[in-house]
Amino acid sequence: MFEQAEYLILGNWKMNLNIQDAKALADSVVKAASALPKHIATGVCPASLHLAQTNAIFQNSSVALGAQDCHFERSGAFTGDISAAQLKDIGCSFTLLGHSERRQFHQESDQLVHKKAEAALNQNLHAVICIGETLEERESGRYTQVLETQIKNSLPAIGTRDTISIAYEPIWAIGTGRTAESQDIEETHRFIREILKQIYSKATPRILYGGSVKANNALEILSLSVVDGVLVGGASLDAEAFATIMRAAASVATASV
Ligand code: PGA
Repeated sequence: MFEQAEYLILGNWKMNLNIQDAKALADSVVKAASALPKHIATGVCPASLHLAQTNAIFQNSSVALGAQDCHFERSGAFTGDISAAQLKDIGCSFTLLGHSERRQFHQESDQLVHKKAEAALNQNLHAVICIGETLEERESGRYTQVLETQIKNSLPAIGTRDTISIAYEPIWAIGTGRTAESQDIEETHRFIREILKQIYSKATPRILYGGSVKANNALEILSLSVVDGVLVGGASLDAEAFATIMRAAASVATASV
């Protein structure tokens, strides 16, 4: 999945939209994505409740369908959960894992995220594993240690660039309108890349940035050579904003059309 992509533009709709609005937004994303060059890959993670109906819209398009989470078991007595196998079955090709909201509101540990990532990979679902530090960890300078621990404990070594991506999302930038400075993104992505090199001998996974990516800052963020794409929350709910972010990726891509 995403093998040829120079940039990955992913939308996380979280617990938003009714089915009618989700379908309308999915239609708009398909339209905007159809105008992009092939090496810009687009994916959207609707609420799990809407996966089947949005899949019908994304099915014959260039937009990949993603989930926001999965369970690590294949099936069983896990009320309210959804397995990677079920996500694959309904049409998903990737899933987010370890999003900071899952870590915060569902007490997900790195070890749990690791198990989920293995389950996703076993089902041929590309795993987008989220990591990120709190404001306190950033300001105290402990964030490199925090990120290193999250990476080493959450990522299965069996992954490859084609099966795993990292989304670096500083928690203090998510939904706050406060984006990390370009210099911080650059320095942090370089640090993450070094850690990834210790785990993966061949091509290391892509590193996406997430946290208040908007239509008006996407170009600056995507222009950084260390950024392989973005994970967009709030702005992905706005068809025009998300389309602008996709076009920003196309405008900075170096691959030929
Ligand atoms: P945001 O969310 O773009 O609304 O900050 C990003 C995310 O949580 O993935």
